[in-house]
Amino acid sequence: MTERTCFTYKGIPLPTMGYSEESLSYMENEFQLLDDDVVTVSYPKSGTNWMLEILGLIWHDGDPSWVQSVLMSDRSPWIETASGLNVALNYPPPRFLTTHLPFQLFPKSFLHSKCKIIYVMRNPKDVLVSHYHFAKFFQPLEEPGTMEEFVEKFLNGNVIYGSWFDHVKGWMKMKNRPNIFFISYEELHQDLRGSVKRICYFLGKELDSHQLDEVVKYASFQIMKDNKMSNFSQIPEEYMNHKKGKFMRKGICGDWKNHLTVAQSEHFDHVYQEKMQGVGVTFPWD
Ligand code: A3P
Repeated sequence: MTERTCFTYKGIPLPTMGYSEESLSYMENEFQLLDDDVVTVSYPKSGTNWMLEILGLIWHDGDPSWVQSVLMSDRSPWIETASGLNVALNYPPPRFLTTHLPFQLFPKSFLHSKCKIIYVMRNPKDVLVSHYHFAKFFQPLEEPGTMEEFVEKFLNGNVIYGSWFDHVKGWMKMKNRPNIFFISYEELHQDLRGSVKRICYFLGKELDSHQLDEVVKYASFQIMKDNKMSNFSQIPEEYMNHKKGKFMRKGICGDWKNHLTVAQSEHFDHVYQEKMQGVGVTFPWD
């Protein structure tokens, strides 16, 4: 990656736009997580914003007025960005926070906090394809090049937030802690209502049947793609070239089949097997 778009912080490539070493270091060493914080953690393009919409709806008993009137970045700030950190520090509890940080850069205060973490994962081939398209119009990211080139960059962790494999493995080590909940994009797709119920249980939140239906309705791709507070349409042109693409792109599982050649997919599988050896978890895409 080029120095124009990226810098490396403790071995992890991050965009230069919106990030600083000072706020990352503050985040890691000084930021205090509170016991009633709910933090959504994910590798980019794994369905993060979908989860943020779901959480906002759950918290308001299925009523969409909050998610449809407050920008995503104010509802659930990205704590590792300088602007997100500022929102988080002024956020009245309970806070909904968001991050793509790998575990080793996550606030150390986590180790003695009861905050709730929701880690969202997605088939890495779909993550790759989603990232490839996103990088074409999200200005802080480097142009992805050809798919052939991008597959190599992705497999080598030469993309923002580094290696998908390291990210997932790093967070998986926390899987026995009671305050961390793992869920995949694929599970959300397969059974959104059941997934919402499981998330509610983890959060200790009770919703009746109608409220659950409302969460499912307003978190659907069809409705969320028209929600200006969540669909990234309000992001300034300086950050996003809205003529070149949309954040709410396809929202499906398995789109990689339309983009990777058989050879690229086999190469991916080979690297995947090597890197994920011994993780001891079966993922929905395995
Ligand atoms: P695609 O590019 O494959 O369409 P993130 O929020 O982590 O950046 O992830 C973005 C991906 O989640 C995009 O995938 C986007 O379309 C998808 N997504 C966002 N909201 C969704 C929803 N309500 N239902 C299904 N997919 C959604």
